[in-house]
Amino acid sequence: MSAIQAQLETLRQQLRHHNHLYYVLDDPQIPDVEYDRLFRELQSLEAAHPELITADSPTQRVGAAPLSEFGEIRHAIPMLSLGNVFSDEELLAFDKRIHDRLKSDAETEFVAEPKLDGLAISILYENGIFTRAATRGDGETGEDVTQNVRTIKSIPLHLMGEGWPAKLEVRGEIYMPKAGFEAFNAKMRALGEKTFVNPRNAAAGSLRQLDPRLTAQRPLDMFCYAVGLVEGGAVPDTHYAILQQFRAWGLRVCPDICVVSGAQGCLAYFREIGAKRSSLPYDIDGVVYKVNAIATQQELGFVSRAPRWAIAHKFPAQEEITELEGVEFQVGRTGALTPVARLKPVFVGGVTVSNATLHNMDEIERKDVRIGDYVIVRRAGDVIPEVARVIPDRRPADAQVIVMPTHCPVCGSEVERPAGEAVARCTGGLYCPAQVKEAIKHFASRKAMNIDGLGDKLVELCFEQGLIRHVDDLYRLQAAQVAALERMGEKSAENLINALEKSKATTLERFIFALGIREVGESTAKVLARHFGSFEALQAADEAALLQVPDVGPVVATNIAHFFSEPHNRDTIGHLRELGIHWQNYVVKPIEALPLAGKTYVITGTLSRSRDEIKADLEGLGAKVAGSVSKKTTALIAGENAGSKLEKAESLGVAVLDEAALSVLLTR
Ligand code: IVH
Repeated sequence: MSAIQAQLETLRQQLRHHNHLYYVLDDPQIPDVEYDRLFRELQSLEAAHPELITADSPTQRVGAAPLSEFGEIRHAIPMLSLGNVFSDEELLAFDKRIHDRLKSDAETEFVAEPKLDGLAISILYENGIFTRAATRGDGETGEDVTQNVRTIKSIPLHLMGEGWPAKLEVRGEIYMPKAGFEAFNAKMRALGEKTFVNPRNAAAGSLRQLDPRLTAQRPLDMFCYAVGLVEGGAVPDTHYAILQQFRAWGLRVCPDICVVSGAQGCLAYFREIGAKRSSLPYDIDGVVYKVNAIATQQELGFVSRAPRWAIAHKFPAQEEITELEGVEFQVGRTGALTPVARLKPVFVGGVTVSNATLHNMDEIERKDVRIGDYVIVRRAGDVIPEVARVIPDRRPADAQVIVMPTHCPVCGSEVERPAGEAVARCTGGLYCPAQVKEAIKHFASRKAMNIDGLGDKLVELCFEQGLIRHVDDLYRLQAAQVAALERMGEKSAENLINALEKSKATTLERFIFALGIREVGESTAKVLARHFGSFEALQAADEAALLQVPDVGPVVATNIAHFFSEPHNRDTIGHLRELGIHWQNYVVKPIEALPLAGKTYVITGTLSRSRDEIKADLEGLGAKVAGSVSKKTTALIAGENAGSKLEKAESLGVAVLDEAALSVLLTR
């Protein structure tokens, strides 16, 4: 090998290694500039010696010219699909069929995997080198998407390690991570271009671009989950070991895969993943269980086009079609009118949905929703159901355009929509019963006055029965009045009165937050409390003084000043204080004088108090609390079951404090 060749090979090895750390392991070890420098070095060396360029060189991901159409690739081994089950009973029946066929009572060992919502792909490695990629197509023949797939950076162009068979076909799912999908759609929206409906369509659309340069710009990724053809070598004898082997070869495998035992193990996994679903970085539509032992897979074989040794357990559909029967406008705490769709009831995401949010008028216009339309309702996890889009082809001739009412549906006050704002508001303020009711709910809520047991339903009931008109009336409630309410007894009435009493001892920031001043959330309330130290000082502050507060801009300053200029607000506050609400004032010290000034902490794991509470304490002492560990972190506060943040802190040599050390810190 010539010196140039050796130099090229070293550079390629280095780039492959860092590419793997960055894209597959998500754990980069050199700064981007360093990577770019190596990359440019390789590029210029290759430019000087074009005859030495190889197809698996890291520089060769993009570059192929656009195609006029995709070629066809016949799969050496057909790409099958999976049978589905939708319930625990069906899953038990699947497990029983396996026992019956194997004539065995022993628990079956399965590998349980998320069912990724992307598209299936087959990649062929010859002597460790990426040679071609095909879509599933009809299972027998797929499309040749080699040039597009090679642009996906987490897919190695050259396998790592050793021991790969001379021919190895890897199968898996190409998908678009949720974050990438959101960012991509946001970009498209900003450019006034068409957006994708969901990450699955986005992945499929991106992969089927005839111009690989376009595919290269899309945030695609892949998880490998099966082998196809193996020639001139072997792979391990369990599915799980094969996946581990894939990892060692530098291929990306889903981290949420588990070995489970029997049908009960499968069901436990299904629930666990179901609970985590919305927080996973990728979209899934169920889970897949596969018999772990390859010999057993072979014994079980196939029926028609699906294996007997694997099954997909699907989540209930998250999107359904129904009719939009009408639209009502709900009035929130700040008077904002939210259009709510009244739907013909439909079963979606595991529950029956008859109302769904339409967000605001801009959204209605953007989606062109009309009353009478057939719409797609979406309910993802615990998220509020929404009208995702309409089916234009099914629009009836008499579909009605939705108009914002000119007057509040609750109090009749005028509705205003300031130019440039998405929300329209009822101008009724405290005259509007809807706004008052919402203000009371907010006042009582956990992060505000934290009145235990006074939930939204009970506020509604007290309000409708005329027991409360304003927040201060809460503290005038009598046990007997409460006990007489529907579904309340003496015991629960007494509990509520006690909770009200207890809530009177509060903190300045909670009280400020509880007032529900527009755009004064929890953190602004806290900043205001520390800055002014007392309620009197806050109330006396003019806009100029408010603008001195960090995080307070002109809009918030105006809102605060306006709130305190209203006589009825001042009256209510006076009444609340007469009724016994109290707190401790702060001694206002400049931040620099506080004991933890300039220090940054990160909190992780399970601790005996909520993170919010610990955060507030630390901030009270002048510290900052960040979301992720970096070299600048002073210390990580780690409770039980701390995970990746703890590892990161340890690897960076950042100090780690346990609960005991934390309490020492806080008593300084
Ligand atoms: S294994 C013979 N594993 O589901 C087994 N498929 O309904 C072949 N899919 O075409 C597939 N996640 O696109 C397998 N962890 C996973 C999967 C998965 C998603 C897709 C794949 C396949 C379809 C079958």
